Amino acid sequence: MTKTYALIEMIGVTKEYFGVPAIKQVDFNVEAGEIHALVGENGARISTLTKIIPGAATPTRRVMRIKGREETLRNPSEALRDGIAMVFQETSLVPSMTVAQNLYLGHERLFNRLRGLNIAAQQFLQSLNFNVDPAATVANLGAAQKQMVEIARAVLQKAGLIIFDEPTADLTPEEKRYFFARVQRLKVSGVAIVFTSHAVEEAPEIADRITILRDGELVVTDRAAKCDGDSIIRAMVDRTLSGELYARRDRKVRDAIDKMLSVRFETS
Ligand SMILES: Nc1ncnc2c1ncn2[C@@H]1O[C@H](COP(=O)(O)OP(=O)(O)O)[C@@H](O)[C@H]1O
Ligand SMILES: [Mg+2]
Repeated sequence: MTKTYALIEMIGVTKEYFGVPAIKQVDFNVEAGEIHALVGENGARISTLTKIIPGAATPTRRVMRIKGREETLRNPSEALRDGIAMVFQETSLVPSMTVAQNLYLGHERLFNRLRGLNIAAQQFLQSLNFNVDPAATVANLGAAQKQMVEIARAVLQKAGLIIFDEPTADLTPEEKRYFFARVQRLKVSGVAIVFTSHAVEEAPEIADRITILRDGELVVTDRAAKCDGDSIIRAMVDRTLSGELYARRDRKVRDAIDKMLSVRFETS
């Protein structure tokens, strides 16, 4: 029997800034063809953890395996050679270039035949059902269209894993729905997806698995079918614990007020 390996396996991810740990011993893996949501409150370090996968951020420590083979990716272009593409929150497209030129960056010899380039881009975008003009300058596109160009570029580069950092943050509700439909289609075509989100309702809607971080620590990785908005919020902020703390603090405050009142009554 052949052993099946996770597409990506990261063990003991730790990142320190000036000796202060920001990510603490997190294990994170991505199965081939799955949609994996990485969720946490603002500042939980979900962006940093995703950036560590393709080498866009450097961890202090971690072991990484790609399909079972131990490997270190030093930067996003090295990651791309292993079929891992990342779509950053701040777009990495060249704003002064056209959509077609951005798609075929790295193949500049094609730029000499602009018509041919635009036709190739047009056909490719259509095959993905993306409604973007290949001759448009990227600077003039909205957030959703820029994202489509980024996705198209990743598919063109034959990525087996596309990582999105907060892909829905700048989208309207309708654009979000389209984005999730696009992600589902990518999954059907065999591409694995990792995306980060601070919005708890998004992950159960679309993900196969959910990983929750709190203050740079792993809370849980679980099948999305077992999670709902409430359980995710609890895990994100540990509300049960903070609820107890508040209750305790309330009691203290109540006691203090009682004392103050009784003093006042006694002196008046
Ligand atoms: N270069 C850096 N130097 C120091 N601290 C940093 C740096 N980058 C990130 N951090 C710390 O990590 C926190 C947020 O990390 P991030 O991964 O962006 O969180 P999230 O995406 O979950 O909101 C920041 O508030 C900061 O404390
Ligand atoms: Mg972030």
